[in-house]
Amino acid sequence: MKILEVIGVTKRFGRVMALKDVSFTHFEGEILGVIGPSGAGKTTLVNLITGSLSYSNGDIRFGGGSIRDLKPHQIGQLGISRTFQVKPPLTKMSALENVMMGALFGRTERRRGGRAARRRAEEALDFLGLAGKKDIPIERLNGLERKRLEMAIAMAMNPKLLLLDEVMSGLNPTEIDVGVALIKEVRDTGVTILVIEHVMKAIAKVSDRVVVLHHGEKITEGPPEIVLNDRQVIDAYLGKRYKATAALSKTEKII
Ligand SMILES: Nc1ncnc2c1ncn2[C@@H]1O[C@H](COP(=O)(O)OP(=O)(O)O)[C@@H](O)[C@H]1O
Ligand SMILES: [Mg+2]
Repeated sequence: MKILEVIGVTKRFGRVMALKDVSFTHFEGEILGVIGPSGAGKTTLVNLITGSLSYSNGDIRFGGGSIRDLKPHQIGQLGISRTFQVKPPLTKMSALENVMMGALFGRTERRRGGRAARRRAEEALDFLGLAGKKDIPIERLNGLERKRLEMAIAMAMNPKLLLLDEVMSGLNPTEIDVGVALIKEVRDTGVTILVIEHVMKAIAKVSDRVVVLHHGEKITEGPPEIVLNDRQVIDAYLGKRYKATAALSKTEKII
């Protein structure tokens, strides 16, 4: 079953074409990786799906209906939530308060009010291993804990589709393995996940299928083991001087 369809979407910022006629389908239960070098249009794609930015051409459908003209809060209530690459500003608030905000803006808890939101927030913190940190102002959380918090906020929205924007950047290989396991655990709770990453190794491990963006265009899509060895993909990441042979291992060294 299709959960998300991106159909011929184009987004311009003045003379910059951030996305050019991009189309792909995301199936229910699938972990779909979206990769591409910096500036490829990955975050723009998330901003369009979540209604934070409008677009001139194309359509985005969720659960069979167009979400093109919906506001971000309506899209959140339908069941799409996201993490932000930029850190949230509410750093004096506790982890629990931040996650409760997620719950209140999400799919199920807004009508049920504070107590239900608190319960869902506590569940999300517990799931992400942050139960012991719930009363701490988030400015005192370390980098890894903040990434977990971002996921807890998104999870508390009780999404059907979760968009993760570079949640594994800056992690070491051991932490990436933890992140990958966590994302799979979230999927196993019934959430469909779109993972945006710059780190190819993480994408190779976590994705069922991968879409590659480069200069705003989709250059290929398919299973990670094929896509990450694709000549065009290697060129996009590494420049043409690298040979395609043993591409994946070379790529891993670079990142
Ligand atoms: N709000 C914006 N205003 C102007 N240009 C933007 C804006 N957001 C993104 N861009 C441009 O669009 C292109 C794609 O950016 P982005 O989607 O952030 O890439 P990625 O997340 O893949 O690194 C870049 O050239 C970037 O400078
Ligand atoms: Mg980005």
